[in-house]
Amino acid sequence: MSIRNRVAVVTGSGSGIGEVIAKSLAREGARVVVNDVNSEQAGRVQADIVKAGYEAIAVTADVSKQSQVQDMFKTAQTAFGRVDILVNNAGIAKDRGLMKLSEADWDSVIAVNLKGTFLCSQAAAAYMREQKYGRIINISSRAWLGWPGQANYAASKGGVVSLTRTLALELAKYEITVNCIAPGIIDTPLFHTLPEEAVANLMRAQPMGTIGKAADIAYGAEFFAADESNYVTGQVIFICGGKSVLSSLSV
Ligand SMILES: NC(=O)c1ccc[n+]([C@@H]2O[C@H](COP(=O)([O-])OP(=O)(O)OC[C@H]3O[C@@H](n4cnc5c(N)ncnc54)[C@H](O)[C@@H]3O)[C@@H](O)[C@H]2O)c1
Repeated sequence: MSIRNRVAVVTGSGSGIGEVIAKSLAREGARVVVNDVNSEQAGRVQADIVKAGYEAIAVTADVSKQSQVQDMFKTAQTAFGRVDILVNNAGIAKDRGLMKLSEADWDSVIAVNLKGTFLCSQAAAAYMREQKYGRIINISSRAWLGWPGQANYAASKGGVVSLTRTLALELAKYEITVNCIAPGIIDTPLFHTLPEEAVANLMRAQPMGTIGKAADIAYGAEFFAADESNYVTGQVIFICGGKSVLSSLSV
């Protein structure tokens, strides 16, 4: 699998799935931009990568703010000379049933999960088009198929799937691939913020009876990021222990 010397920007990589993706790509030889809105977390992950003998910089930016996103990609270009791989991983959840869902909870989840993916993809594509090379990997969720209590989150993640498919078509002529991973329940800090009732609901139909690990998602990201995946675009891969197969039966 060839990722060596590629430059990868991983959003929200100060924690959870993004942290493991950033570290996996670095281990495979990529130079990594560790982005997070939380500068302490981004700095910690960057320091871990450098300590392990690989290259990384930390960039604090909120992916839902266009000027911060553009500055982040300028910093990446200045530090490493190119931008090859973008993993749109930054995400938040604010789960409530429809009647309790506030406008603010709707707006913030859509802003980070969906608008952030758009802004980062647009900024990265400007560099990738020039290079005639790019890999954009979006982290959606199995929830995009629908799940009670997750209207804002599921809609944002469904939007990420539509964005993936559309950008794959728009960017194919520049040899930029755009693919998507839809994780099931993964053991990360975000998962532990979910209310007990939501967790019980999520575990109700879990074919393997277990929750996944961030490394399971990183493995999928490595596949899409590799040079060899040049003919794979517009695809969504579920890494969810089979839950996507059951989802329409279990709600
Ligand atoms: N954990 C799961 O069960 C699960 C399942 C399906 C999909 N996902 C998705 O995987 C991705 C990673 O989730 P996780 O579980 O690792 O969560 P996490 O909370 O552990 O990590 C998310 C990171 O994103 C950062 N972040 C939040 N808002 C940001 C912003 N505006 N700009 C930049 N960074 C920001 C946070 O500071 C945090 O470090 C998310 O997109 C999430 O929706 C997670």
